[in-house]
Amino acid sequence: MVEGGRPAAPALTDADDQYAVVTHGLTKRFGRIVAVDRLDLRVRRGELYGFLGPNGAGKSTTLRMLCGILEPTEGEGRVLGIDLRRDPERVKSAIGYMSQRFSLYDDLTVEENLMFYARVYMVPRADRAARIQQMLRLGDLGGYPRQLAGQLSGGYRQRLALTCALVHGPRLVFLDEPTAGVDPVSRRTFWAVVRRLADEGTTILVTTHYMDEAELCDTLGFIYQGRLIAHGSPAEIKAETFARPVIELQPVDARAAADALAEWDAVEEVVRAGARVRLIAARSDLQVGAVRDYLAARGVRVEWANEVEPNVEDLFVSFVDRERKARVREQLRALGPAGR
Ligand SMILES: Nc1ncnc2c1ncn2[C@@H]1O[C@H](COP(=O)(O)OP(=O)(O)OP(=O)(O)O)[C@@H](O)[C@H]1O
Ligand SMILES: [Mg+2]
Repeated sequence: MVEGGRPAAPALTDADDQYAVVTHGLTKRFGRIVAVDRLDLRVRRGELYGFLGPNGAGKSTTLRMLCGILEPTEGEGRVLGIDLRRDPERVKSAIGYMSQRFSLYDDLTVEENLMFYARVYMVPRADRAARIQQMLRLGDLGGYPRQLAGQLSGGYRQRLALTCALVHGPRLVFLDEPTAGVDPVSRRTFWAVVRRLADEGTTILVTTHYMDEAELCDTLGFIYQGRLIAHGSPAEIKAETFARPVIELQPVDARAAADALAEWDAVEEVVRAGARVRLIAARSDLQVGAVRDYLAARGVRVEWANEVEPNVEDLFVSFVDRERKARVREQLRALGPAGR
């Protein structure tokens, strides 16, 4: 069956329960907005899965459906083998969820927040105290059990929110931009905890806009306009889909260099970062020497230029661009020869 130009994937079977998360055609519409568009997602048990995409791509909406909080418009999904549509309440209690705006109670202390979530998640009464102690250690919050959550710094709030989502020992956790607005040292501490949890067997699906965090994931999924446009390990994605060079240079005048390069058809994308310019080539054979010659011919001097490893951001820019081009081509085809 072909629907909307794309062949439908086969429906979910029991074999799919090997995955911590599996969806088939998962869709969410808000009126006319298609926030999530026929998403087929597979997250293996025990992996750290990074979910990337620009603002408004549909990341939070996907997570809220996977947590059993938001009902899908269409499609199906299972989380730890539990059906999202049939059993959203069981989903909610089986997983941990740290929302994009951490849901902490500012007028409760650190310990009280943990106790609140321990009750919500129905941690047996006899286990609660020990579990809370364990969470204080995990989040490195031991020194502040009686501090009001509202008085904690950003990094502590974030670690408290994480431990609240983990207090019932879920095997699967969803973290929605957990490190937004947190300083670099706190981010690193936080990721060390996340990485350790994953290494100990917890499945983690985390959204982020930080490319250094994406590099720490086992698998990455890129979502754009509600669709999954690429997925794989950071290394796989680089090796299989990025055959064009990325060149970084330091010109004497970065603005003049960026402007000149942006007009060149050998260059797909130019990014200026302070005094440096980074470019993604439009073809696989572009060499550093040719870039220097091109700029020299336009009177732009270059102090140094090197080919560098593509980072996740380069990949993302390239995917989005490729997808955009593919859609334009699709639209042109729909118009037929007369439309061109
Ligand atoms: N409750 C809602 N009602 C109407 N539209 C919504 C609602 N929630 C999300 N949207 C829309 O759905 C789309 C996807 O939003 P979503 O929050 O999932 O994106 P996101 O990838 O999480 O973005 P960000 O990186 O900014 O957090 C956006 O166009 C958003 O405006
Ligand atoms: Mg979001």
